[in-house]
Amino acid sequence: MDELVALCKRRGFIFQSSEIYGGLQGLYDYGPLGVELKNNIKQSWWSSMVYERDDIEGIDTAILTHPDVLKNSGHENTFTDPMIDCKKCKSRWRADEIIDNKCPKCQSTDLTDERPFNLMFKTKLGPIDDKDNFAYLRPETAQNIFINFKNILDTTSRELPFGIAQIGKAFRNEITPRNFIFRVREFEQMEMEFFVKPGEDDKWYKEWVQLRLDWWKNQGLTNNLSLLEVEQSDLAHYSKATTDIMYKFPHGTEELEGIANRTDFDLGSHTKNQSDFEIQSTVTKNTTSNSKLASLCSESKKWIIPFVIEPSAGLDRGVLAILTEAFTEEKIDSNSSRILLKLPTHLAPIKAAVIPLKKNNPDIVNKAKEVKLILQSLGLGRIILENTGNIGKSYRKHDEIGTPICITIDFNTIEKNTITFRDRDTMSQETYDINDLKDRFREILS
Ligand code: GLY
Repeated sequence: MDELVALCKRRGFIFQSSEIYGGLQGLYDYGPLGVELKNNIKQSWWSSMVYERDDIEGIDTAILTHPDVLKNSGHENTFTDPMIDCKKCKSRWRADEIIDNKCPKCQSTDLTDERPFNLMFKTKLGPIDDKDNFAYLRPETAQNIFINFKNILDTTSRELPFGIAQIGKAFRNEITPRNFIFRVREFEQMEMEFFVKPGEDDKWYKEWVQLRLDWWKNQGLTNNLSLLEVEQSDLAHYSKATTDIMYKFPHGTEELEGIANRTDFDLGSHTKNQSDFEIQSTVTKNTTSNSKLASLCSESKKWIIPFVIEPSAGLDRGVLAILTEAFTEEKIDSNSSRILLKLPTHLAPIKAAVIPLKKNNPDIVNKAKEVKLILQSLGLGRIILENTGNIGKSYRKHDEIGTPICITIDFNTIEKNTITFRDRDTMSQETYDINDLKDRFREILS
């Protein structure tokens, strides 16, 4: 983990947030390469959910959330961690972190009793600071999908089964954020709620576990993945069954994504006149919602509250898993080694570096600029001109940040119209005619 954190900082993937003021715990900023990697993961998820299927719509909703949404969703009452304070050193712990009734920091046994600690952040709405004028920062993107169910149904004429996908920030006031970007207070989720007829939920649940596992494999996670069926006693309050996709992170094997059967709990809890429906779960009663979040069944002509299958992935955890898997230290010969990120090409932050052999030769530099513009116009991602004059150093840098191809522009490019491609993983070099540039590059990136 330490080596990965150092690489992330050194090369501009991820920084501690507010670092120049001592940092804020559990908050991170993504740098120039981190944002590209994150955007590429999001793009891949969005494509697989929204573009490559015909039964999922995308949305993007507000972060600040009406308190009644999170009251009726059960988050006000149940979204808590039991917490214990050390009276001696004033540190705060989740109850499961206390071993042998001792403070893990100072070993004191002078501890408070367990108290529930709600993980949601509250903020005031508008200028008046009173207890009724507040909103929550959403603890999951899912609730805003549920409360928009009728809007999506009305505007798209969808019938069951269909899904609604969203990528966005969520916030949890973790007592002990830790393990770099794994457990943080502000994070991004990629969530999709798939609405199905009651009775078809088990089939769809199994299907989504497999689809999501395959998707992570396609992001380069060929090792270190496993499935864990969550024990009944550990299920979230809304879940009938949950399977976690686990990844062997540097700090241990933990959840990367959860696929939950949320039954009709959420739509049922946000629906007025609940007794008009055959709701199967124990929903929150007496909601103040003014809407029915139901779907007209074409066969029975009855309004039903759909069941929901939810694949919920942590984007930051995805970044950590993908970086972990890609991080490779390799011997070049008996005296030297290199670090490289073996990222799949579709996730690489920089798709190609164009490197003029001579920093101050205008013919070579102008040709390199031309090549960069040609490749950039293909719209396949970011291409950079790397004019340091030190080709060995440029190769090392681009190995470390996962750039699949370095393209060298030299005297032969001017005289014979040839360019040299250097492959990140094999370090092999091949020379092509400049007229083949676009085709060759497209081929590599596909
Ligand atoms: N929506 C599920 C979760 O945030 O854990």
